[in-house]
Amino acid sequence: MVSIFNTYDALSDFAAQEIINTVQQNPKAVLCLAAGDTPRLAYKKMVALAHKNHLSFFGVTFIGLDEWVGIGPAIEGSCYHFLNELIFKPLSIKEEAIFFFNGMAANLQAECKRIDATIKELGPIDLTLVGIGINGHIGFNEPGIDPELGAHIVALDAVTANVGQKYFREKKQLTQGISLGMAQIMASGKVVLVANGLKKAAIISETMQGNISNAVPASFIRNHPNGMILLDKEAAAEL
Ligand code: GLP
Repeated sequence: MVSIFNTYDALSDFAAQEIINTVQQNPKAVLCLAAGDTPRLAYKKMVALAHKNHLSFFGVTFIGLDEWVGIGPAIEGSCYHFLNELIFKPLSIKEEAIFFFNGMAANLQAECKRIDATIKELGPIDLTLVGIGINGHIGFNEPGIDPELGAHIVALDAVTANVGQKYFREKKQLTQGISLGMAQIMASGKVVLVANGLKKAAIISETMQGNISNAVPASFIRNHPNGMILLDKEAAAEL
């Protein structure tokens, strides 16, 4: 399903409500929410709605989608830091309910195994909410990725390493990422992709109108029985 909203604000309202609905329907929901600029407003609205409706997140589990390798959780710009400030702290989520990749771990393979085991035990994920990279990546599933992989370590595309600088105050060496695999994302009960702005228009056109293949990992979402693609008018400009 594709929905096109007149404004980023309206898109964010809808995405926020999707998260709230998931938790209302299942107070023990397992959520996987992407970091990034796109869902920022949706998360603010979601937290405001949760507070307004006295909705408890006590039983909810959060699984990290991805992280920059070499960037610790305390660094502004890490995916963990982003979600911690916007969601975990405001909703008083306990540490035990958060399963996130540590990009500073000495053994990154063990990190992947830990998250794979967590998903096996607690999953499948009920709702995964993702943004899209301008090269079509989802999480850090870059173009060409094997869609059968679980959690894995990725050599970042030059585009991703470049665009990723926007999250950090100082220039960072971004060469690798650690990410859930497409198979884990696709096994989620629902997958919501959000994209806004003209900078996403070309890749959204490829995602929606091109072949479904690992050349544009986001295109796989078209095959998901509960896949939702939420766009503002600008991101939908080339459809
Ligand atoms: C980043 C992250 C993704 C994110 C995407 C889009 O590199 N790895 O998880 O969803 O790119 O980011 P933004 O929403 O800032 O455009």
